[in-house]
Amino acid sequence: MTNYKNYFGFSKEPFAQDIRIEDLYPLPGMEALLDRFLFAVKLSAAAVITGDVGSGKSTSLRYACSKLHPSEFKIIPVIANSGTVLEMYRQIVLSLATEIKANSITKVTKVIRSLILEIAARKEKPVLVIDEAHLARLEVFAQIHVLSQFEFDSKPVMPVIFSGQRHLIDKLLYHTSRPLASRVVGKTHMEGLKLKDMTGYINHHLEIAGVKDRLFSDEAVLAIHQGSGGLLRRANALARGSMVAAAKEECSLVTAEHARLAATELLDS
Ligand SMILES: Nc1ncnc2c1ncn2[C@@H]1O[C@H](COP(=O)(O)OP(=O)(O)OP(=O)(O)O)[C@@H](O)[C@H]1O
Ligand SMILES: [Mg+2]
Repeated sequence: MTNYKNYFGFSKEPFAQDIRIEDLYPLPGMEALLDRFLFAVKLSAAAVITGDVGSGKSTSLRYACSKLHPSEFKIIPVIANSGTVLEMYRQIVLSLATEIKANSITKVTKVIRSLILEIAARKEKPVLVIDEAHLARLEVFAQIHVLSQFEFDSKPVMPVIFSGQRHLIDKLLYHTSRPLASRVVGKTHMEGLKLKDMTGYINHHLEIAGVKDRLFSDEAVLAIHQGSGGLLRRANALARGSMVAAAKEECSLVTAEHARLAATELLDS
């Protein structure tokens, strides 16, 4: 593939997945998400973040977590899958930098609860952050509630943040998840970007990768916006693909035609 990076003079890969917190573009939904996240953390309650694939949920979560000082908070990040409760619990234990040999839910629950109390005793607040939560089995939602409540349910110790695709809400509304769902004090949905934000978003990514010149025509941005529905990961792929197509033709301006060519390379085009 043509080296578009050299052709356009980037100092690093543009539209990178591991973008640094300090380089983030201020997405319209990011502050609303942060407010709800911090509110839930303050009350030791729960918050829910939903959004389509590639809308910026995990990155915004990373941003929100960065606002919690490590001397006061112990973030417990887990990525849900369709595994058993025990598998989820093992991830939690691993996040707490411990290993566990026990094989029964009762024993592992006891261990995690005592680890949570140890953290609280150090005057830190444990914060459980579950990404891809829509994948979790229903029984996981029922069990998580047991983990985080103390003294006959009167003392919530650990806030829980859920992030996932839209149908996460259905799982939280299922009757066995209700005790946990009743702890939710804020929910937010990451929308696709509007056209004006897409222009800002693309230019921002170009700039942090070392290119300040205007590389995309207005029509190219419009085509990327339409082709991505405003969703960031897809917009990244289209922008990168468009630059490859433009560099191949030795064009210094990326056009809508380049964006259309890029779209034909994506699986769901
Ligand atoms: N605030 C931001 N500023 C700049 N780029 C961003 C920002 N948020 C997300 N991105 C870009 O969008 C990409 C997709 O974001 P992210 O992985 O957070 O989406 P997601 O909603 O978690 O996706 P999935 O549904 O697949 O889990 C990131 O890899 C990053 O390149
Ligand atoms: Mg994600």
